[in-house]
Amino acid sequence: MPEILVTNDAGELAEQARTLASTIIATAIDQRGVANIALSGGSTPGETYRLLAESGLDIEHCRWFFVDERCVAPDNERSNYRAARRELFESAKISDAHVFRMLGELGAEAGARAYTEVLDAELGAGAPMDLVIAGLGNDGHTASLFPGTGAVRLPGRVVAVTPGGELEPRISLGRDMLLASRRVLLLVSGAGKRSALVQALAAGDEDVIPARIYLAAPAGVVTVIMDAAAQG
Ligand code: 6PG
Repeated sequence: MPEILVTNDAGELAEQARTLASTIIATAIDQRGVANIALSGGSTPGETYRLLAESGLDIEHCRWFFVDERCVAPDNERSNYRAARRELFESAKISDAHVFRMLGELGAEAGARAYTEVLDAELGAGAPMDLVIAGLGNDGHTASLFPGTGAVRLPGRVVAVTPGGELEPRISLGRDMLLASRRVLLLVSGAGKRSALVQALAAGDEDVIPARIYLAAPAGVVTVIMDAAAQG
């Protein structure tokens, strides 16, 4: 079962996430000389990224990857890379050489293949992320593993997902890659997440609520940081 931390509000959630992320990053650098971090998009982590940017990160020894990306150009307002660049990379003066974005503009299939090569080259085949910052969608998705798509069953470090509806295709780290991470912080904020959160913490079909994948992680890997509104 994941560790669960409840904060009073979204501001405290971001403070807590920043504190934990900073410690995890510093530990990775101490132990292995580098911290490999994968970032999510969405609205929840923005404040955490802004706080991290002010935290005196050892940016020379951090390398930034992505949990998922929407299949849009990198300057599109829906691009997860664009959001991370605005909220973290620019203000922390992180060099482009330390940022490994998913190429959403290639489309999901080609983008997933290209990012698999990036991970194999930059992390090494089979090596884990040190830190994944993940989110939870109102429908129970995490990363871009969407419900009812079979995405949780796709093999590979990086997968192509077609969420359907009005959402564009996505590139996402796959279930096994997410679960192999040394640490995962799952950030959950707001009353709109209550139902998905309750379901994500109850065992059941992962294709129905993909965030249930985190229940399968080894002890000590996943920390859910939720605010009181999400807890209900
Ligand atoms: C994305 C994300 C996604 C996100 C959840 C929660 O690209 O949309 O990476 O997995 O974490 O949808 O999004 P919010 O933080 O906006 O609720």
